[in-house]
Amino acid sequence: MARDIQDDRPATGPKHVAIIMDGNGRWAQNRGRPRLFGHHAGARRVREIVEACPDLGVKYVTIFAFSTENWKRTQTEVAGLMKLFHRYITREARDLFDEGVRVRFIGDRVKLDEKLVSLMDELELLTSGNSRVNLTIALNYGGRDELTRAAKRLAYEIEAGRLTHKDVDAETLAKFLDTHVLPDPDLVIRTSGEARISNFLLWQSAYAEYEFIDTLWPDFTAEVFAGLVQNYGARDRRFGAVKA
Ligand code: IPE
Ligand code: IPE
Ligand code: MG
Repeated sequence: MARDIQDDRPATGPKHVAIIMDGNGRWAQNRGRPRLFGHHAGARRVREIVEACPDLGVKYVTIFAFSTENWKRTQTEVAGLMKLFHRYITREARDLFDEGVRVRFIGDRVKLDEKLVSLMDELELLTSGNSRVNLTIALNYGGRDELTRAAKRLAYEIEAGRLTHKDVDAETLAKFLDTHVLPDPDLVIRTSGEARISNFLLWQSAYAEYEFIDTLWPDFTAEVFAGLVQNYGARDRRFGAVKA
């Protein structure tokens, strides 16, 4: 049974947290194991983080699973990751549904295999009535790619005469992004010690707060997550203005 919205989040908490789940490869290498071992351990972490969201008042959580640049990795790693995504969706679908999670995918589906895309579509449909927590999985996602695809679709609408150049403003452009139904992230977390965003949610994170932490993704616990969500409450977001 899908659960109802419980909007008990503290007024100061982040409504949308986006996470760059980095460090799986190094976590495995530290243990003398192949990189894919780290990816499997990383995938197992996701459930705990998603389940922690409702109590922390986080309504939206978006995770970076595979970037448009990750195709540059070895064929073995890419194939292993694709297989992991198949398996993850198949195995977790029921629990995600039962937990009241609404799952969405962002990214370009064109390069993904048909079977995987149909599993993604099915999971989106299965969970479309849920609203307890919104999990968005960025798969073959790149911020520049997303903006380029949006610009292309906007140009097409103009060519077709349904819009004119006068309609092009930030609000209209945002409607063409993969994230059009999501609020902007309030907090972006990156694990593994790298202080870069690697093409993640470029447009949407314009005014997000960032947390770069050393923990490798497979070691990221609900406790660490809760600490970062609590830190956020102390931030003073000014959005370019001066506080009176
Ligand atoms: C993040 O972990 C997961 C993906 C990019 C798919 P990495 O695989 O980038 O791990 P490191 O950064 O090499 O340790
Ligand atoms: C970002 O991590 C992508 C994901 C977490 C899916 P990467 O490991 O690919 O980023 P870089 O190469 O360190 O910038
Ligand atoms: Mg990495």
